[in-house]
Amino acid sequence: MKTTNLTAILVASTSLYVAAPTAAQAEELVLYCSVQEEWCRAMSEAFERETGIEVLMTRRSSGETFAQLAAEAEQPRGDVWWGGTGDPHLQAAQEGLTEEYQSDELANLQDWAVRQAETANYRTVGIYAGGLGFGYNSDLVEENPPACWADLLDERFADDVQVANPNSSGTSYTMLATMVQLMGEEEAFEYLATLHNNISQYTQSGSAPIRAAATGETAIGIVFMHDAVAQTVQGAPIVAVAPCEGTGYEVGSMSIIAGGPNPDSARMFYDWALTPEAQEIGAANNSFQIPSNMNAATPEAAPRLEDITLIDYDFALYGSSEERTRLLERWDADIGSLSQ
Ligand code: G6P
Repeated sequence: MKTTNLTAILVASTSLYVAAPTAAQAEELVLYCSVQEEWCRAMSEAFERETGIEVLMTRRSSGETFAQLAAEAEQPRGDVWWGGTGDPHLQAAQEGLTEEYQSDELANLQDWAVRQAETANYRTVGIYAGGLGFGYNSDLVEENPPACWADLLDERFADDVQVANPNSSGTSYTMLATMVQLMGEEEAFEYLATLHNNISQYTQSGSAPIRAAATGETAIGIVFMHDAVAQTVQGAPIVAVAPCEGTGYEVGSMSIIAGGPNPDSARMFYDWALTPEAQEIGAANNSFQIPSNMNAATPEAAPRLEDITLIDYDFALYGSSEERTRLLERWDADIGSLSQ
């Protein structure tokens, strides 16, 4: 009896040991990161400290990272895609570029974060949320500041508005999908074509327009409200606006890349990144989104979703491969072509 028991224990502990790799076995993590560089670095360093796993991090915008995953599909080089707007994460899930995984932390996440996971059959998960809006430089716009999407069409803002290109930027794609949902597709493209007269530049990264507004290079930047707040908190004369007509929002997401080189490290990072401690690294690094873990503190400066008139953003539709591809093609044809 004794021998059998001992054997059973030995077998059990051996298989346990095999099933749960230690940090020493899993030494590297290739992280594709789509939030602010500062937050990407802080996350990488904290995970390295916590586990001893070396993080090789690259920062790229959401649309660019999606394109990279698609290009590397035959030979995936990344392990985890952390951050960036949810729509391209959903598209990656639909195209089988990311892997199904359910973390124990799912039970502690906000409804919107779990819904994101369910929509993707658990090939992605929500890590933060934030409303879309714009910010203006109050030194440059002293009278009648813009309060609505419609105000951005005013001739006095000619060449003084910036927004990103929706192909590279998830922020800008969120704006495109928001306008279509707010106004209907035809009116949305008419709005964007008129707005084009005031656009000085379509930037690559979603938050670049508000950095340009902070330095006075442009008066208005169309960005997520928390990106505008980040400039205000750092002392820039930026005022964040929740557009009066209502607006869309993002569910910033995280996905494990299918067939990546370090799957054990990937799951460790994924579980860790959903913990309250890891999610609070954002606020300490000038990122004021709403964290998805209900036990993580919401930064004081974070614009509250309850205070914004939000549309019922259809993530399943606008994160689908067909719709995202179609809308981006139409944007290239109707709006992108106006710059040439
Ligand atoms: C900023 C925001 C994030 C957002 C990201 C998208 O970093 O703080 O909340 O997810 O932009 O970046 P992108 O460059 O793709 O618009």
